[in-house]
Amino acid sequence: MTQDELKALVGQAALQYVTPGDIVGVGTGSTVNKFIDALASMKDQIPGAVSSSEASTARLKALGIPVFEANAVGELSVYIDGADEIDAQGHMIKGGGAALTREKIVAAQSRRFVCIADESKLVKALGRFPLPVEVIPMATARVVRQFAEMGGTAQVRLKDGAPLITDNGQHILDVTGLQITDPLAFESQVNQWPGVVTVGVFANQKASVCLLGTTDGVKTLTF
Ligand code: A5P
Repeated sequence: MTQDELKALVGQAALQYVTPGDIVGVGTGSTVNKFIDALASMKDQIPGAVSSSEASTARLKALGIPVFEANAVGELSVYIDGADEIDAQGHMIKGGGAALTREKIVAAQSRRFVCIADESKLVKALGRFPLPVEVIPMATARVVRQFAEMGGTAQVRLKDGAPLITDNGQHILDVTGLQITDPLAFESQVNQWPGVVTVGVFANQKASVCLLGTTDGVKTLTF
């Protein structure tokens, strides 16, 4: 099976976690795009979605699924999103699609986080995937130095030769060379640095369940 087919498999499997009558939290990325496409088959059973990016909002609306503002609704029963890496405890690195801050907000608003991923995303320890960090541009140089003190190399993510601007009007640093042995402590530490909007380690908002697409089918990991 191709990676694309594995993504479609878990996107379809995630429908079982959507409760009819409930608004669903929707993440961002190529795997979630498969989920959004599958969700269209249930659109008459749900009031709509809360979305974590402008890209997902556009895709949801194009399929006729209403999108609500996070502030307009209460707690959500489920948030469904992909990951760049997930470990055996459900900690994740996210933000490859630059949507990490809104993803963490919607995840925090949800009782359950269902991570959908192909098996290449499962890792023993987080840190091989360059860690995305959303930063306020004024703080970039100092945050780069702080990562250097930890042994990491941080680079501003570019798009068409200029710094990528997130949906929130900020920049993204991608950090390599880190060993994230204690994701919870690491997330709390970096999130306290002035100018850091969100670090792409999801330990406080870790997955409750991971639907992992493998060539043998969907494996369900619970944390
Ligand atoms: C978006 O900002 C990310 O957190 C995505 O969830 C993550 O990059 C996974 O994306 P894919 O499903 O495209 O691999």
